[in-house]
Parts: sequence; structure tokens; C-alpha cells
Amino acid sequence: MAAENGPSLGRLASVYSEVQTSRLHHALRLPSVLCSQFSLVDGPPSSATGNPDEIAKLFPNLFGQPSATLVPAKEAVEGKALKVGVVLSGGQAPGGHNVICGIFDFLQEHAKGSTMYGFKGGPAGVMKCKYVELNTDFVYPYRNQGGFDMICSGRDKIETPEQFKQAEDTANKLELDGLVVIGGDDSNTNACLIAEYFRGKNLKTRVIGCPKTIDGDLKCHEVPTSFGFDTACKIYSEMIGNVMTDARSSGKYYHFVRLMGRAASHITLECALQTHPNIALIGEEVAAKKQTLKNVTDYITDIVCKRAELGYNYGVILIPEGLIDFVPEVQKLIAELNEFLAHDIVDEAGVWKNKLEQESKKLFEFLPPSIQEQLLLERDPHGNVQVAKIETEKMLIAMVETELERRKTEGKYKGNFIGQSHFFGYEGRCGLPTNFDASYCYALGYGAGALLQCGKTGLISSVGNLAAPVSEWTAGGTALTSLMDVERRHVIFSSIFFSISDFALHKRNSTGKFKPVIKKAMVELEGAPFKKFASLRDEWAIKNRYISPGPIQFIGSGADAVNRTLLLELGVQA
Ligand code: FBP
Repeated sequence: MAAENGPSLGRLASVYSEVQTSRLHHALRLPSVLCSQFSLVDGPPSSATGNPDEIAKLFPNLFGQPSATLVPAKEAVEGKALKVGVVLSGGQAPGGHNVICGIFDFLQEHAKGSTMYGFKGGPAGVMKCKYVELNTDFVYPYRNQGGFDMICSGRDKIETPEQFKQAEDTANKLELDGLVVIGGDDSNTNACLIAEYFRGKNLKTRVIGCPKTIDGDLKCHEVPTSFGFDTACKIYSEMIGNVMTDARSSGKYYHFVRLMGRAASHITLECALQTHPNIALIGEEVAAKKQTLKNVTDYITDIVCKRAELGYNYGVILIPEGLIDFVPEVQKLIAELNEFLAHDIVDEAGVWKNKLEQESKKLFEFLPPSIQEQLLLERDPHGNVQVAKIETEKMLIAMVETELERRKTEGKYKGNFIGQSHFFGYEGRCGLPTNFDASYCYALGYGAGALLQCGKTGLISSVGNLAAPVSEWTAGGTALTSLMDVERRHVIFSSIFFSISDFALHKRNSTGKFKPVIKKAMVELEGAPFKKFASLRDEWAIKNRYISPGPIQFIGSGADAVNRTLLLELGVQA
């Protein structure tokens, strides 16, 4: 049905490719607990990941509430019609449409006469009350399809008192019984704040989160993975496999592949496990070993030299996009830049650099001009450096080249080196979801509907036992406050060329106080995926053990295979 407050044309399945069409008809299985009558069993009272006293103060209405599990029941939960809104928040991740389909189908099957609204363009749609009413025909073409274009996404946050009031007005205007927020760590933190606010205002609107992000950094015991990670890693691995074959065929290129993933290196690690590159840098390890850019450059250069001695003047190197932010000296430089830019203006003559500490100034001047510019770019709305915009792969190529030149003049290197840079990021975010992501997302959405029907709020939909067949998966909700800690976030500024009064304005908007956050799950150096990688990487560096996984399969052997990270973390693969 068209939106009451704006046209939404939607997709036309009639122009789909054969594969898209076949995916439309792919039957989605559900965990058996969601296939029949169920009830909800509460667990023990919950606490928080860190600083429970602070979290209790920030969430007086929600703190301590138990997580809940869906179990089979003799009698069905009363199926009264509901009005439910859904919003997609943050970066695209394959499977988002299936979460929406899951909620939609739950309401159709268990709460007849329900109405579902899709807020358009992310949280801004909630604040501005911009929505499309979802019905069977409108939803149909999006089943098992990639992208977020059914309702689109956005990175706005609902954070000021005025914005919370706008969300309240929308909830009241549409008489919402529930709001499902599909997002990453920041968006689910936001979902919890909205749930707390609505509860404090005695609104009937309940809020449920869903774990989305290709980055794989929103996970915990009850939420074993975020959706989209599986598909994105398989798409990147296919592309990495292809450049591996290219490297081996021409014998003359070193492919430096930067991979998305923000701060965490989960994507790089997973792609390494799938493809066996010569080198994969893991940001968390670089930080733990306090490595400098010189250390990282030397590590790569040493391997390039050894390979040259063996006659291999080619290779494939994976780099997580967050790497730069993990090198302690770069972190220090970024912190100084943040501080400087918060109070001062960059002058074109470069005199401003004298305000940096000696070492940071030296490092800044050592970096290629393109990287210097990228380090000064606008931060994201959460105050983070936009790592997707920093071309670390080009920087490393330049640094390795310089080091190889030096070794050549000293007679220590006789090979040839040509670096080719790649950034695999946006290519992986909207692919057709794998069978795993398609089913996982559908179950997350269906489960979110069940949680709303049971009157729950402030939970994140959680589906577990993921190494088992779909029918044996568990479903329920985890208290969002139990995933929280407090953190002081960076101050926000919008441009290097802003004036002090602009900064004052931005500073008012960013509290500078401790804020509740869902802690990002970083790569654990003691975890099974990293240990597996560390046990094999020396062999991969020298011998060519490349694997080309090929494109994602939807039928046949391997179609239901789950990513290595999840299997290793669940302890079902050695
Ligand atoms: P989310 O954290 O919102 O899931 O976004 C993931 C991501 O794809 C990161 O991997 C990447 O750094 C970032 O989004 C890019 O942001 P944008 O889409 O704004 O360019």
C-alpha cells in the first residue's frame, strides 16, 4: 500500500534476474519453537557488562529485567491485533529485508488485523513520522533480496530531548504497540534509550532491537552473531579468491586489499580463514603488541623479500579498514588532531602543525598527503574517524615500496614489487543474503514479533544454537541493558575549517558525559578464530595456499555452510 505521507514505488519483481526470482521463491524455514504455539519464560534478573550502578541510574525502568526464551506451549499467547513500526538504522547488511518479512509474517499469522509501518530513511523517519504502510504486495518483492531499499536506512540518532519528544509524538499518532529497531551497537543502545523513555512516559509502545552489521562486532553469548556478516564475508572472499588467482596468473602484482569492518577486524579474519592470503593484518593484535607503522611495514616487507627469494614476486595482503586506528602512535596523533581541531583552525601554510607534539608532527609529515587529508576529514555522528575513507592500503604500498628501495640499495632485495590497491566494502553490503543470513534474519524478525506480542520491551531479539539445523535454533530476547557499559565518547566536530563558535554549537550537542554503550565485540586474541589463523599464517605467507571459494551458492553442497568465525566460536569446528 502506498504511504499515507508520501509515495513509495517499491521494487518490481517482474524485472528480476533468474537468481533473484528463484530467491523470491526460496522457502524460509523457522525454528520449530516459532512454528507452533509458544510462551515466554523469563530468566534470572540481569545486570550490565560493566558499571552496573551507572547503568541502573541511566535505565531506572529497565535495568535488571530478565532475558526471555520462547518455549513450546499448550495454549497460544492471546493474538490481538498490533500496530508495529520498524526502522532500519546504520549501514546496509544483507538480510535486513528478511527481518522485516519475519515481523510481517508473524503479525499476519499470529495477530490478525495488525498494521505494520516501515519508517523511511532510518531514525529520521521515526522523528519526522515518515512511513510507508506495509502490506503483502509491497513486501513480497523484497523476500530474500539484498539491500535496505524497502524503507531505506539512515545514521541519525534520537538523542536530544526534542528528538525523544518527536519519537513520542510519532508513537502516539500511529498508536504504536511496538517499534523494532534493526541496527548495530549504537542503534541498539539508542533503541534501549527509547524503550526506557517510552516506559518512563507510560507509553504503550514497546521497543525491540535486532542485531545488524556486516562488521560482526555486535555479539555476545546470547546473540552469537550479527546478521549480514556471513554474506558480506562470503562476497569479499569470492573477490579475494579472484585476485589471488590473478596474482598467481600474472606473477607480478601484490594485491593490498582493505576490507570494511570499522574498528574490529572480524571481516578480515574471517576472509583470511576462507581464502588463506599471504598476509592478513589484525588490528587488535597490532594494538596488543603496540606495533608502530614501521613494525607493520617491516613485517610485510620481510615476507615480500622472503617470497622474492623463492621466486614469488606476487601476493595477497588483507588489511582491516580500522588498522590505522589501532597503531598506538597513530591513535595518539588522532587524539591530538581531535583536540587541536576542537579549539583551533587548520591554516593552509601548515603552521598549525607546530601545535602537535614533536613525534606526532613527525608522523603526520611522514604520511602521504592523501592520508594526511583523510585524517583531517569530518568525523561521523558518533565522533569516530571515518575509517572507510582512509586509504590505508595505498599508504602501506607506499611505505613498503620505500623500504624495499632501501633494501635494494643495500643489496638485500633483488625482486620486483608492484602494489595494486583495492577496497572491498560497499560491494558486500547489499548482496543476496546467504541461506544462513536469510533464515537467521527471518527468525530474528519473527521472534521480535513474538516478543512484542508478549508485551516485552528493551530486549534484543536473539536466536541461538546456530550450528544446528534451523528447526533446532532457539529464539528469545536478551535484555539490552545487560549488554551495556558506560563510556566517554569523543567530542563531535564537523569540519577542519569550522570556527570556534561552530565548535561551541557542536559541543553543546555532544554531552561529553559518560554515555551508555553496548561494548563492541573486538577480535579476541585468545579466541578460537584468531588462534586458528595464527597457527597457519606462517605457512600461508611463504607457500601459496590460496583458496578461491567462488560465488555464494544457494542450492547444492555448501549452500547452508556457516562462516568459520561462528563455527569456531561455537566450538563445533576445530
Ligand atoms: P554499521 O556499523 O552501521 O553496520 O555500518 C557498517 C559499515 O559498513 C562499516 O563497515 C563501514 O565503516 C561503515 O559502515 C561505512 O559507513 P557509510 O555507509 O556511512 O559510508
